[in-house]
Amino acid sequence: MSKDRYRQRYHLSPPYGFMNDPNGVSFYKGIYHVFYQWNTNFPGEKQIHWGHFSSDDMINWKHGKAVLAPVDWYDKNGCYSGSAIKYNDKLYAFYTGNVKDEKNIRSAYQCLAISADGFEFEKYDKNPLIDGAPKGYTPHYRDPKVWLDENGKGFMVIGAQRENRTGTVVLYTSTNMLDWKFKGEISDKKLGFMWECPDLFKLDGHDVLIFCPQGLEPEGDLYNNRYQCGYMVGNMDLENGKFDSGDFVELDRGFEFYAPQTVSLPDGRKILYAWMGMPEEEDHPSVEDNWVHCMTMPRELDISRGKLIQKPVGEIERLKENKVESGPMEIREGHIKIPEFAGESVNIKMLLKNKGAKEFGVYLKASNDLQENTMIKVNSDTNKIELNREKSGLWGSGIRRAQLKSADSVELDIYLDKSSVEVFVNGGEEVFTARIFPSREGICFGVFANGGAVEMVKGEKSDM
Ligand code: FRU
Repeated sequence: MSKDRYRQRYHLSPPYGFMNDPNGVSFYKGIYHVFYQWNTNFPGEKQIHWGHFSSDDMINWKHGKAVLAPVDWYDKNGCYSGSAIKYNDKLYAFYTGNVKDEKNIRSAYQCLAISADGFEFEKYDKNPLIDGAPKGYTPHYRDPKVWLDENGKGFMVIGAQRENRTGTVVLYTSTNMLDWKFKGEISDKKLGFMWECPDLFKLDGHDVLIFCPQGLEPEGDLYNNRYQCGYMVGNMDLENGKFDSGDFVELDRGFEFYAPQTVSLPDGRKILYAWMGMPEEEDHPSVEDNWVHCMTMPRELDISRGKLIQKPVGEIERLKENKVESGPMEIREGHIKIPEFAGESVNIKMLLKNKGAKEFGVYLKASNDLQENTMIKVNSDTNKIELNREKSGLWGSGIRRAQLKSADSVELDIYLDKSSVEVFVNGGEEVFTARIFPSREGICFGVFANGGAVEMVKGEKSDM
């Protein structure tokens, strides 16, 4: 067997070792950079570096050498997550130095590394910038996300745990990006025991806080993953350091989606990358081939009626080849296989119109007899859509659901890669992201309807 049985074709994955959060996502001197949490020593003891991908078009990427290594006293147990921003013409990377002492007691140091080209970084000689967590917080204090306002003032949000074991986000400010002043907590929403990877930004006239609260209890269809990832839309008062916001909403409805990070591009787009993984999930079949996890596709963010909308970036179109179309066709009571739509790395778009079916949907990456499949199913009684990977192959189980306003017609834009699925529903109003590991035969595609008919108004497939 080749080492690349499950290797993704168009998602960033580590050459070897363990990948988690995207870090320092940036556009600097004409180059896109995606750094990431890279345990080069997996499955041995963690040695978390910042790995590095760079690209000049967001499509063709090069993996370079690690830019940060856990070799200094203030980061010896991991160069943890953080962000990067252009300042004084240099690229400033802020990250958390994770340290554990002989008794396994943790400390968290916020650190800086500076680069003049985006490829070679030098750690700041007066690290750390922020020496441990202030009074009232535990050492779960990490993942600095930094930005500058129009006047060149610096802001930093950090994910924090209070001493009473509840999570929040704290704000710091700076006038020189080196000396940071603690302003306090921006939110007092009660959500879990720790908030990881905060990202606060402006979008379409709103302020948005994306973060990963740990420790939410499942509530029906919500919060069923080990940890959560979502956002709140509101109004950030930077003078007073308070974020007045609406409720927490999950950003993705699937299984593997965590620690996202956004970047603003010069053309005004807001782009998001997320880790297509979940903490403590280390048992993928690719472990045998000595690599684990990958990133999502880059997604463009917008807000519509208070809700974050995610769409694949336009550049992705350039990856599409051999487009074939099918439909319209009606599927009554049962299923139809569409052999032209089968494939390992493909995009399938379709509009499904309900014609009296109780349930309808599609089988993805199915075996010939459809016994193995990853299923997307819409229920016209509940108006819920689900991603079901109970039978998706060599790994994975479970069902995730999202509520739609109507099930009369549903638009699906499905991106399948060798070992993943991303489903954009109704123009990105809901997205389901998951890793799947179909067996060798698992490439068939089918449409089904139960208790009535469904019409595939138009379907289209491209190789990717
Ligand atoms: C999130 C996270 C971050 C931390 C990093 C360590 O997945 O736990 O909070 O900085 O991963 O790898």
